[in-house]
Amino acid sequence: MDDVTALKDSFLSEAQSAASLPEIQQLRVKYLGKKGLVTAKLKALSNVVPEMRPAYGKAVNEVKNSIEEEIGKLESLLKQADHKKRVVAEALDITLPGKYTPFGREHPINKILGEITDIFVSMGFEIEEGPEVELDYYNFEALNIPKNHPARDMQDTFYISDDVVMRTHTSPVQVRVMEKRKPPLKIIAPGKVYRCDADISHTPMFHQVEGFMVDTDIAFSDLKGVLEAFIHSMFGAGTPVRFRPSFFPFTEPSAEVDIGCIFCSGKGCRVCKTTGWLEILGAGIINPKVFEMVGYDPEVYTGFAFGMGVERITMLKYSIDDIRLFFENDLRFLKQF
Ligand code: DAH
Repeated sequence: MDDVTALKDSFLSEAQSAASLPEIQQLRVKYLGKKGLVTAKLKALSNVVPEMRPAYGKAVNEVKNSIEEEIGKLESLLKQADHKKRVVAEALDITLPGKYTPFGREHPINKILGEITDIFVSMGFEIEEGPEVELDYYNFEALNIPKNHPARDMQDTFYISDDVVMRTHTSPVQVRVMEKRKPPLKIIAPGKVYRCDADISHTPMFHQVEGFMVDTDIAFSDLKGVLEAFIHSMFGAGTPVRFRPSFFPFTEPSAEVDIGCIFCSGKGCRVCKTTGWLEILGAGIINPKVFEMVGYDPEVYTGFAFGMGVERITMLKYSIDDIRLFFENDLRFLKQF
C-alpha cells in the first residue's frame, strides 16, 4: 500500500506548485492519462496477490478519485483567478467623461443657397451649372456687355488671359444653356463668382443665383409673380416688394428689386439707410440681342431673367454686418447657424 500513498503524496506536492491551467493539464496527463501513473497501478492490479487485490484496488481507486477531485478544484480556482484578472485589466470606468467628437454643420451660405434653390425647384425650375473660369465671350460679349463697358475694367474682373476670365456673375450660364437647349426653359444657376474687390460688403469670391424663364409669351408680370412668390417664401408672406427701373445690358427693361426693410419694417433705419427698403436682386426682360446671340428668334420668344447675391440675402436673414465673417472660418461664428 505504501506505493499508493507515496503516489498520492507526490501528486499533492506537485499540485501545490502548479500555478497555471497548462500545468494542471500536464498533471492530469501524468497521473490519470492512458499512460499515467495511477492508470498503470490499475493495470498492474492482476499482479497483486489475490487476497490483497480488493483492498489494494480500493486504495488505488480512492487515490484516483481524490486526484481527480483535487485537479477539478485547482482548475476552477485558476479559472476564477484568471477571470478576476481579466475583469480588472479590462475594467471600464463609465464615470469618465466621454470622448468629444466635434460635429460639422452646414455653412450659412450653403444653407441659404439650399433654401433659395428649394423655393425655385418647388416652382418647377431646373438647376444648371456653368464654369467658374469662363470665356470673355460668355461672361460679357454674348450678354451684350460691350468691350468698353466698365464691368470689364481690370479693377473688377480677374483676367486669366485676354479672352478668359473668372466669371464675374452667373449670367453667362443663361447663354450656355440657351445655346444647347430650346425653350420652354425654366432654369436657376447657382454658383461662385469672382470680383477684384474686398471690404466690409465685398469679397473676391461670392455666390449668386441666376434665374431665367423663356417661352413664347413670357411677360414682365410673370417675372413679378415668380419673384414675389420667392420673396414671400424667403422673407415672410407679408414682405413688401418694389420694382425700381434700372439698367443691365442683357435685360430691357431692367429693374432692381427691393423688399421692405425687415429690420425697421419700413420705418427707416441704419441698415436701409433710412429709405425703408433693401435692394436684393437685379432682374428684367431678356434683351432681344441676347436671343440673337444664341440663335433664338426674338420675334418668337420672350423671357425674363434675374440674379441675386447669396451673401447679401444671408446677411439680411441673419443680421450679419460684415461679409468677411463668412470666409474667416471662425468656429464661434459658424457654430451659430
Ligand atoms: N448679373 C448681374 C450682376 O452680377 C445680376 C443680374 C441682373 C442678373 C439682372 C440678371 C438680371 O439675370 O436680369 O450684378
